[in-house]
Amino acid sequence: MEWNPALYERYRQLRERPGRDLLNAIPDIDARSAIDLGCGTGYLTRQLADRFADAAVTGLDSDDAMLAKAAATPSRVRWQKADIGDWRPLASVDLVFSNAALHWVPDHPTLFARLAGHLSPDGILAVQMPDNFAAPSHLLLKDLAQQDRWRDALAGALDHGVVLSAADYWRILRPHCRTIDIWHSDYLQVLAGDDPVLAWVSGSALLPVMTHLSVVQAADFTEAYRMALRDAYPRQIDGSTLFPFRRIFILARI
Ligand SMILES: C[S@@+](CC[C@H](N)C(=O)[O-])C[C@H]1O[C@@H](n2cnc3c(N)ncnc32)[C@H](O)[C@@H]1O
Repeated sequence: MEWNPALYERYRQLRERPGRDLLNAIPDIDARSAIDLGCGTGYLTRQLADRFADAAVTGLDSDDAMLAKAAATPSRVRWQKADIGDWRPLASVDLVFSNAALHWVPDHPTLFARLAGHLSPDGILAVQMPDNFAAPSHLLLKDLAQQDRWRDALAGALDHGVVLSAADYWRILRPHCRTIDIWHSDYLQVLAGDDPVLAWVSGSALLPVMTHLSVVQAADFTEAYRMALRDAYPRQIDGSTLFPFRRIFILARI
């Protein structure tokens, strides 16, 4: 699956806010090393580097286009192309940060235990992920993918996005971490323009679907999805569209 930095950054301000909320929730620590897993276009990684000025900061991502965009802005961050699933640091890390990326990586019980295992003594794991998989935007996507005309092409395409419950993450991290703080935030996102929810998911959740369809199929699918989204997310009286978005935050310290 290939990412499109321009599409993703169309809603940068709104996408950035939960990342900043995560960053602000991290206590002051004397971090000497920090990594941003799934750094994307790197705007949060650069903020991480500003906040933890003494830390060697790495931004890791598997997507060439996202990394190229990240590297295009001068900073002291070291950019690394790798898969989060394969990430095994040579030395333990003081701060492992990840915003809106780990929901693309499977097997969270193994993943989160492994990430906690890479922390140095007193190190922090700080994670934010979407937790809106029961929202109409996702359920409609799954319903359409089940229709006869797309079912075969889309088999397995939407199998990612396995975000567990807060209690599950607590149970996974408890053997490794001294303190664990997990919470949800609901953002009432107010979007402008025509079909803005479609525009939003085109930069993220819709990408795996598009990868699996031919050009003609993709156009048909997008049209059907657009109509369904218009019903689910009607325009408000001032012309804006409300797109409530739930996110889970995990802050754990060993
Ligand atoms: C929704 S974007 C978030 C980017 C950034 N963290 C932010 O908050 O703007 C998700 C990013 O995770 C990356 N990603 C997804 N799965 C990955 C994996 N298995 N390994 C490395 N990067 C991955 C994608 O390439 C993409 O850049």
